[in-house]
Amino acid sequence: MNHEDFPQGNKAVWEAMAVGLEKKRAYLWTVSSHIGEWLIVNLDVRPGQTILELACGTGDTGFAAAPLLGRTGKLILTDFASRMVEAARRRGAELGLTNVEYRVMDAERMDLPDGSVDGVICRWGYMLMADPAAALRETRRVLRRGGRLCFVVFGSAERNPWAAIPARVLMEGGHMVPPAPEAPGILALGNPARIKQLLANAGFGLPRIEEVPIVFSFDSAEEYWSFLTEIAGALAVVITALPENRQRTVRLAIEDRLASFRKDSGYALPGLCVNVVTS
Ligand SMILES: C[S@@+](CC[C@H](N)C(=O)[O-])C[C@H]1O[C@@H](n2cnc3c(N)ncnc32)[C@H](O)[C@@H]1O
Repeated sequence: MNHEDFPQGNKAVWEAMAVGLEKKRAYLWTVSSHIGEWLIVNLDVRPGQTILELACGTGDTGFAAAPLLGRTGKLILTDFASRMVEAARRRGAELGLTNVEYRVMDAERMDLPDGSVDGVICRWGYMLMADPAAALRETRRVLRRGGRLCFVVFGSAERNPWAAIPARVLMEGGHMVPPAPEAPGILALGNPARIKQLLANAGFGLPRIEEVPIVFSFDSAEEYWSFLTEIAGALAVVITALPENRQRTVRLAIEDRLASFRKDSGYALPGLCVNVVTS
């Protein structure tokens, strides 16, 4: 799917998702904490460091790193959607964290000096950016020499039916145009060859890439539907803009295609993350 096809733009899509992401924050961390923790472990976070998180959403990944930085270290949590940053700020206050700075910042245009951070993390962000090449160049610029970048994107459509099936149903129904090659989207950056090329062009060395499974479990079909319509970015925007009868047809078609992933009264939907660490 191509966020740039939406007249209100990518940023507006994510401002609109902030309420849903905050509401589902605990659920999301339950199914995905192993992905966030992978980033922290592989970044090799040390006390006293300055760590930058890009596209932080409600901030859970960065918050897992904050205690490791100690009182002399600092976490800079950033997202281009101001409502996401506000949600992250509320969560940070709830956790009583005092070594976190919150900033509204577009990863493609970072308001930070050259070489000013020791490490960068980004979970499920780069693939959504209109210009990931620019964002990676900016990342390289703000990282100190020898500093590490750890990020996660989703893998191929075949391995991520939780997102690929709804997208396919929407395209088949004529509600969404097929994405242009390399257009931003949930599944846009799953090809390791493209990741390596983008990183090389931005001045990074050869990355280590690991595939890490994730399971989006839902207790009911209703829960999955609210996940799709409240936090799934462009998919959510397209679905919720449809008249009610069309939404019902779309929902039935999605449920039909996902029947093989039914578990008890809900679903266990498999996904695959592509986890990347650079030096
Ligand atoms: C799928 S959410 C992931 C949020 C969080 N990292 C997590 O793991 O839960 C994607 C996030 O990327 C942010 N985002 C997308 N493009 C961005 C950009 N160019 N600069 C900064 N943030 C961006 C959105 O606002 C949204 O919060």
